Amino acid sequence: MAAENKTFYLTTAISYVNGAPHLGHAYEAIASDALARFKRLDGFDVMFLTGTDEYGEKNARTAAKAGIDPQAFVDGNTAKFKDMAGYLNISNDDFVRTSEPRHHRASQAMWQKLVDAGEIYRGNYSGWYSVRDEAYFTEDELTKGEGGALLAPSGAEVEWVEEDSYFFRLSSWGDRLLQHFDDHPDFIQPQSRRNEVTSFVKSGLRDLSVSRRRLTWGIRVPGDDDHVMYVWLDALTNYITGVGYPDEDSDTFKRYWPADYHIIGKDIVRFHTVYWPAFLLAAGLALPKHVFCHGFLNIEGQKMSKSLGNVLAPQDMIGRYGLDPIRYFLLREVPFGQDGSFSHESIVNRINSDLANDLGNLAQRVLSMINKNCGAVVPQHGDLEPADQALLDSAASLLPAVRRIIDTDLAFHNALAEIWRVVGDANRYVDVQAPWELKKKNPDRMATVLYVLAETVRRLAILVQPYVPQSASAMLDQLVVAAGDRSFAALDEDKRLKPGTPLPKPNGVFPRFVDEVAP
Ligand code: MSP
Repeated sequence: MAAENKTFYLTTAISYVNGAPHLGHAYEAIASDALARFKRLDGFDVMFLTGTDEYGEKNARTAAKAGIDPQAFVDGNTAKFKDMAGYLNISNDDFVRTSEPRHHRASQAMWQKLVDAGEIYRGNYSGWYSVRDEAYFTEDELTKGEGGALLAPSGAEVEWVEEDSYFFRLSSWGDRLLQHFDDHPDFIQPQSRRNEVTSFVKSGLRDLSVSRRRLTWGIRVPGDDDHVMYVWLDALTNYITGVGYPDEDSDTFKRYWPADYHIIGKDIVRFHTVYWPAFLLAAGLALPKHVFCHGFLNIEGQKMSKSLGNVLAPQDMIGRYGLDPIRYFLLREVPFGQDGSFSHESIVNRINSDLANDLGNLAQRVLSMINKNCGAVVPQHGDLEPADQALLDSAASLLPAVRRIIDTDLAFHNALAEIWRVVGDANRYVDVQAPWELKKKNPDRMATVLYVLAETVRRLAILVQPYVPQSASAMLDQLVVAAGDRSFAALDEDKRLKPGTPLPKPNGVFPRFVDEVAP
């Protein structure tokens, strides 16, 4: 049911801007965008936030290596992430940069809240730190790499850090967190991640160093100019900066916080499901409803990395395959929550079979038959036969099915499989009914068959909007569906296509991908 007064707040992780975005960043943005679009179409008042994580030692060191002032350096890379949101057709409502004044204000207010609550104390940190992960590790979490260097679980080298530091009393929040995981079994999704986090918390939490003395690139600790905040404390706070914190009484904050979903990658689960909820509890703020941890994208079976030279730039891929085919491929091919692999062969296969042959061909043949044989208007249907009703019913059953899938565990791949089941039904119906044979024999029956098909295409086009927005919109244009009749509410019966509506000459929406043949 449409939920006019219901809000839905979702966020992506905010990316480090020590380089340009790659396909992994694009993947997270696309999946989050599909969810944001789904919820808007389903009648929710959606707030969709993304942004960039500009502080931390990693960004500072990369800027220093490049001989560039850190602010100028992050400005340059942030521009590339903003561009990416544009060329990926991401429908974010806001974009938080952690170097913005509003974010400094929110982070410092958060810090002060924690100080006032007695949750921060001064001490001395000595231990291992991984700059690539921006994370502290205990000795027993490390392994020895080649040449004896100590490595974090991510494979990044760790460094010994010893400095004055402020600590957050994380150790006192373990039981409360475990209780929360018990009371909210779907707080951490998928379940496998929940199990992993639960055993980490059960193994005992240590207080967390939340400031860095030797660094200057960061947000100052209120009242102590010698320290900047630990980058994760500031970065996580972006999720409330984006809805107006520290103005807890503001309409925006009251309307959207707590977030419905934080969408993040599997490498940053601990920060989002242990540190962040502990900070929020300590500050007396509500916890997000769900943290969904997606998997990693590999390229042709290999980890994407600069040293392997296989880092895929999203804009090159769009040039090659087109945006919607990439969005479709990533959401359909990779079970959301698991790792996935990108390969040329598998995307071409999806483009040519699911998009060009199945949905594209369905729409194109239906619309061109109408164009040629029905005077280019939505045909007038006669009485419906059982086969007609069966196809319409199967299309009508999609919204509740897809809604249940998305609401349960964001299984975009299953939602798309479900929609394509009806695409398959429709193609079989075309073959069985063979409208081209009815033209002379029984033109009224041909009109009915083509009406049923056009109406099915309308429903399918409305339902695929979250995943392939531009193509869906082109299909709806060709069916002359008004802008106000494209939400899921328009799937009800009285929004059906009106016989007699003139239709434009159709154009194929999903072209086949043809590999260039080597000369
Ligand atoms: N800055 C932190 C997040 C702070 S959130 C308060 C960070 N940045 S990141 O740039 O390293 O990663 C941004 C997001 O991209 C993360 O969710 C991460 O998991 C995701 N990915 C990075 N590489 C990826 C793949 N190869 N595949 C899929 N997602 C990947 O972590």
